[in-house]
Amino acid sequence: MSWGLQNRLARIINPRTHRTVMLAIDHGYFLGPTSGLEVPRETLKPIQAYADTLMLTRGVLRTSVDPCSPTPIVLRVSGGTSILTPLSNEGITVAMEDAIRLNVAGVALSIFVGSEHERQTLLNLAHLVDEGERYGMPVLAVTAVGKEMNRDARYLGLCCRIAAELGAHFVKTYYCEDFESVVRNCPVPIVIAGGKKLPEKDALRLTYQAIQSGACGVDMGRNIFQSEDPAAMIQAVRAIVHENKNVDQAYELFQSLRSQREPERMLA
Ligand code: R5P
Repeated sequence: MSWGLQNRLARIINPRTHRTVMLAIDHGYFLGPTSGLEVPRETLKPIQAYADTLMLTRGVLRTSVDPCSPTPIVLRVSGGTSILTPLSNEGITVAMEDAIRLNVAGVALSIFVGSEHERQTLLNLAHLVDEGERYGMPVLAVTAVGKEMNRDARYLGLCCRIAAELGAHFVKTYYCEDFESVVRNCPVPIVIAGGKKLPEKDALRLTYQAIQSGACGVDMGRNIFQSEDPAAMIQAVRAIVHENKNVDQAYELFQSLRSQREPERMLA
């Protein structure tokens, strides 16, 4: 791995804890305006400071993130579909040259294993890895799961391993039962997506279980920005990821931070 690539990766995954809290706000790339993300700049205000990395699209980066902000960026560079069309039919949407111009720390692309467009998305990944190696840019492979796929260790293990074999530098997938085996069989770090909004304590449990099973962190969206208190929630997630707190300790932190802000919320 080149010095530049390692340096960029160290901006994403904290070299001290070997963990990361990535904040995913890229949902609009196929969903359009998403609940909680209608005005991304507003969504980011109370929570950006607690994210190790932001994962987003080029359009949201340019319009909604201060260029002087120190938070490293993982740029989504795949897309070309919407919720109205087969999602798996993705292409690469950003030139590596623009990713470099935007000074991002990494690029992210989805693969759709088992779908109609499996080959196309896997070849997209291989191409992106070639470019990433050429320019020192880490590649995050996102294992997208179609409605018809089971989110079990067998399927997710297959997706993560294929992503790593094709050269992804780290992988994003979903937590599942026997997640240890998914991690064991994947030679690169894994972060988990949060998935649909859950009650806060359940989302913290999901985070805890993933970390205990060997995930190096989260790339979480809806369970943070759709929380009744996004700033409290991201700090509680951080406590698990970086400080090895358990679910009860993290939930207690969430409640205490939330109650401190109660008067502010009442006035808003
Ligand atoms: C998945 O393809 C995208 O990166 C999503 O926007 C991201 O995974 C969503 O994160 P979450 O499931 O935590 O809202």
